[in-house]
Amino acid sequence: MSEIAQAVQLLRSGGLVAFPTETVYGLGADATNSAAVQRIFAAKGRPSTNPLISHVADASVARRYAKSWPDSATRLAERFWPGPLTLVLEKTSAIVAEATAGLSSVALRCPDHLVALELLRAFDGPIAAPSANRSTRVSPTTAAHVRRQLGDRVDLILDGGACRVGIESTVLDLTRAVPMILRPGSVSREQIEAVIGPVELFGGFVREDATQFSPGQQEVHYSPHAPAYRYEPQQRRKVARWCVAHSSDQAVILSLGESELLVPLCDAMSCSHRLMEMPENPDDYAARLYAALHEADVLGVAAIFVEMPPDQPQWAAVRDRLMRATRPFKV
Ligand code: TXA
Ligand code: MG
Repeated sequence: MSEIAQAVQLLRSGGLVAFPTETVYGLGADATNSAAVQRIFAAKGRPSTNPLISHVADASVARRYAKSWPDSATRLAERFWPGPLTLVLEKTSAIVAEATAGLSSVALRCPDHLVALELLRAFDGPIAAPSANRSTRVSPTTAAHVRRQLGDRVDLILDGGACRVGIESTVLDLTRAVPMILRPGSVSREQIEAVIGPVELFGGFVREDATQFSPGQQEVHYSPHAPAYRYEPQQRRKVARWCVAHSSDQAVILSLGESELLVPLCDAMSCSHRLMEMPENPDDYAARLYAALHEADVLGVAAIFVEMPPDQPQWAAVRDRLMRATRPFKV
C-alpha cells in the first residue's frame, strides 16, 4: 500500500497523520469526526478553545463546507489557492464543533504542496490540521521537527522535506463587513487588497479583547525552550556585552545579515556563543526562522537573542512571529 493510501485509511479510522505543507507541517485528522479532532488537541496539549484550520483539495471542496461563499472568496481562491491564505467563513454542520472550538465559522485553506494535495484529493474531505508542534512551541518545518515534538502521539508522519514558506498562512476573516487579517503571513495585506479592496489588520495579541476576534491568537506561541530575547540593532553592543559576561553559558544569536558589530566583538572576546546569520530578505528569513529556533533548542543553550527586522510592511509576518516567540531584551 502506498503511504498516501495508508494515510487515508488512518484518517478514515480516526487516526492522526502529520503531513507537509508549503508553510509548516500540519497534524491532520478528519474534520468531520469529533473523536479524531479531539485527539489533535490531546496530542498537542492545545486548549480546546483554539480553533483549527480545515484543509481542502480545492475551492470546490471548500464550498461544500462553507454555508455561504462570497464573491470575495471566489476571487481570493482563484488568485491565491493553492497557497498560504486561509479564509474564515460561516461553516456547515459537516465540520464538527470541536474543530472550530464551537465557533459558527470555519477556517479553510488549500495548501500548495504536492504531498498535501495528493493526500487531500485521495481523502476527498476536509482535514483539520494545526501546526504539528506541541502547543506554544516552535512550529515544525521538517518531518524531524515533528518527530521530535510529537513522536508516537501521531500515527504516521509523511515526509515532504523542508517547508518552502516556513511560517504559517495568512488568516483572513471574511465573515465581517470589512474583512480582517487575523494573522499575518506571506500573502500580504497589499496583495489581498489588490484583489478585494480594503481589509483591516487585527491589532494582535496585545489587545485585551483578542479572544473575541480570533481565539488562540493572544497566547504565547512559537517559543523555544530557552528564554528568547529580541533586540534592536542599536542594542547590539549590549548583547555582545551580555555574551562576554556569560561566556560559560552558551547563547545563540540570530543576527540580521552580517552583523558588523557582533561578529568582531564576539571574535575578539573569543565567545563560545553561536552566531546564526539570518537572511536580510523577508521570504528567506521566514523560510529559515523556525529551523533556526529548533537548532537553538537542540543545542540546549541558556539564551537566544534575536535581532528584530525593521518595522516595515514586508516584515509584518516575521515580526508577528518574533513578537510572540521572544521577550524584549532589557539590560
Ligand atoms: O499555515 C498554516 O496555517 C498551518 C498549516 C498546517 O496549514 N496551520 C496552522 O494552524 O498554523 P494553527 O492551528 O497552528 O493556527 C490556526 C489559527 C488559530 O490560531 C486560530 O486563531 C485561527 O487560525 N482560526 C482557526 N479557525 C478560526 C475561526 N473559525 N475563526 C477565527 N480564527 C480561526
Ligand atoms: Mg500553530
